[in-house]
Formats: sequence, C-alpha cells, structure tokens
Amino acid sequence: MRRDAFWMPFTANRQFRAAPRLLSRAEGMYYWTPEGRQVLDGTAGLWCVNAGHCRPKIVEAVRRQVGEMDYAPTFQMGHPLAFEFAERLAAIAPPGFAKVFFTNSGSESADTALKIALAYHRVRGEGQRYRLIGRERGYHGVNFGGMAVGGIPTNRKAFGPGLAGVYHIRHTHDLSRNAFSKGQPLQGGVELADDLERVCALHDPSTVAAVMVEPVAGSAGVLVPPRGYLERLREICTRHGILLIFDEVITGFGRLGEPFGAERLGVMPDIITTAKALTNGTIPMGAVFVRSEIFEAFMQGPQGIELFHGYTYSGHPVACAAGIAMLDTCAEEGLLTRASELEKHWEEAAHALKGARHVIDVRNFGLMAAVELEPRPGAPGARAFEAFVRAFEAGVLIRVTADIIALSPPLIVEKPQIDRIFQAIRDAVSAVA
Ligand SMILES: Cc1ncc(COP(=O)(O)O)c(C=O)c1O
Repeated sequence: MRRDAFWMPFTANRQFRAAPRLLSRAEGMYYWTPEGRQVLDGTAGLWCVNAGHCRPKIVEAVRRQVGEMDYAPTFQMGHPLAFEFAERLAAIAPPGFAKVFFTNSGSESADTALKIALAYHRVRGEGQRYRLIGRERGYHGVNFGGMAVGGIPTNRKAFGPGLAGVYHIRHTHDLSRNAFSKGQPLQGGVELADDLERVCALHDPSTVAAVMVEPVAGSAGVLVPPRGYLERLREICTRHGILLIFDEVITGFGRLGEPFGAERLGVMPDIITTAKALTNGTIPMGAVFVRSEIFEAFMQGPQGIELFHGYTYSGHPVACAAGIAMLDTCAEEGLLTRASELEKHWEEAAHALKGARHVIDVRNFGLMAAVELEPRPGAPGARAFEAFVRAFEAGVLIRVTADIIALSPPLIVEKPQIDRIFQAIRDAVSAVA
C-alpha cells in the first residue's frame, strides 16, 4: 500500500515512511500490528482509552446509534442523548459544575473555556479583563487559543505572534530539588505559584480574565505539581477575581484515582476542560464543565443567543452514545477510582527504575508516570525515541516527549502488565547508547 498522501500529525513523516509502525486491531489492554504481533498498550492510545479497547458496551452503543440517528444539529435544536449525556456528566462532576458545553477535542475544549472566561467577564460588566495566563510547558492543544496559552516552545515557534495579552508563569519541574519524587513533590510549591502574583502585579490583576493550567502537566512529560502549588494558584485567582481553568483532558475520568484531578488534588477550579477518555477515545468529543454561577451570569444578559460559540458536532449523537456507554462501563467496573487501588504497585514498579542506565528521574501520580533520561549530548530526544522503538519491537507501547518516557495505561491494567511495561522500559533504556 502506498503511504504518500497522509500528512501525519506530530510525526517525523520522512523517518516514519522509512520505518513505519502500524496498528490494525485492538482489544482490552492490547493492540495488534498488521502482521499479528501483540503490543501491550502502556499509553491508553494517546491518554484516552481509559476503559481499554473495543469495550462491548461502547461498541454496541455506537453501532446502534449510528443506525438510529446519525446526526442532528444542536443549534436552536436538540436531541435527547445530548441532554442525557450532559446530565450524566454533571452528576459525576465535582459539586457545582452543573453545566456542560460539548466540543470535539481537547483543543476545542481549551479554546471554548478561554472564550467562556472572556465572555463571562464581559457580560458582568468587566470587559477590561482580556488577559489570559498560562504556564511554561503547559499543553492545551493546537488551536490558536490553546497554543498561545500553552507553553511548549516547539508547538508555538512556527506560528506567528499568537494572541495578544497572553502571559506565562514558570513551570513546576525542578529536578535539582524534586528528582525521584513519589507522588507530589515536596519542595517549592508555594514559591512557584507566587509567580502568578508577579505576573498579575505587572499587568494589573483587574485586567486578567483567566489562568489555565493542567493539574498535572501531561504532554510535557508528566510534571506533578509540588504540594501547596495549586492551592496557592487558587488563592491568588480568588483574591483577584480571576477564573481558574483546569485542563483535565488527561487527568479527567479516573486517571488520578478520582473522577477528576481537581478532586484528587483537593483544589476546585471554576471551569474544567475534558476530551479523550470522555468517550474512551472511541468517537472524538470534548466537554467543558462550568460552575453554575458562570452560566447564570450569561442568563442575566440580553435575551437571545447568550454565547455565540459552538461546533457543528457539539453534542454529536454518536459521540454522546459512546460517552454514555463509557460512563456505564466505568460505573460497572469502578474504573473512575481504580487507579487509586493500583497506584502503590504502579509507583513501586516505576521507581524500581531508579539507578537504571540513563535514568535521571522517575515520577508518578495516579496511573501516570514518567521516566526521564539524560539526553544524549548533541542529540536531544534521540535516546528516548530509540527506547520507544525498542519497546515497541518488544511488544510494549510507550510514549516519548523529548527525553521523557510518559506512561498512562488503560485503567483496566493488571499488576503483571504493569510489571511488563516497566521491564520493557528497563530493557530498552539499557540497550540504547
Ligand atoms: C491537557 C491537554 N489539553 C488539550 C489537549 C488537546 O487535545 P486534542 O488533541 O484532543 O485536541 C491535550 C492532548 O493531549 C492535552 O493533553
């Protein structure tokens, strides 16, 4: 088969074409390659298949819905599944998050949350709040809002000046003080969060609309916030009337042992963005959870359409069917809290890599972990990429970002499979130069 036409996302296309890695079937914890080789999924696809692959309830719900009603608009119209799914989501969301806006991806959820924040201040007569604050190494997808507020240099540098009025606070990664932390690091949380106070003071906090962060930064390499960090961000935002947005595209739906990361970390934002595991990755969809007070502020505005925002596929019926079946599967199997049962074993298996060749840090939280390698001089990222290829050839899918191996298996993972993932990493990193 020719493989010329597909311009692959976030991929070294020329390198891939020379040595393709293909997946053609999946079930439970495993993928299979077209040649029939089994691959253990250490990354839940791309942080999204939290209930494991091809779960029967979800497959059946999608099959049924696509035959019953393939599509229906949600602009000035409605269909029952969108209302039902939103109610089900509000019921598992932290208290107060009673309103759900549907999108199609994490990137769209990020941009939607930022737009809601700006419009919220404006409808309340505080239209001077137009500034947005993100964090270095933050990832909020690839659309213009999320890209601007995100803080990953490679994702920004080719795309012009971005949005005006966007600022970044310091990231939280500090190997000099916190290497090999188990769970939340102990050092520096409050001091790092105080950087928000500095940025606010510089720009006048009464002009800031929102601060957006991931509770645990995922894509930049599983950066767990030190103790006290998120609490301090919350405190500063509250003091200045700034909305706090948690991007829970990865941490939502059980990744950290509670339905949402906010609950696990004990800090409540004002808006929560999600996607990925919302439908178990089966059908693209995102959802933005909003506190009732924010929604109610819009309802006090002029009559008519309150928010000029939405997507053709907001609340797509097939995605809603998949999402409802995902929630049923999670409820039946206790998946939204299962990570907490496995966390100790996961942590021990991960930290057994301390002392392995090239390893300069291991960190973990919930069912997330990262193994950071010393970069090869003059070739950043090469060592981890080679380890990734070796692990894949040995039958384990891991993920790498720069020289960090990031792990997030489906939440149905069993202990022997956890051991196998870390053994494959040990073998791979020992074998690379
Ligand atoms: C925290 C976070 N936000 C946003 C996104 C973007 O999601 P999507 O790729 O669905 O647009 C991701 C994707 O990894 C993410 O991790």
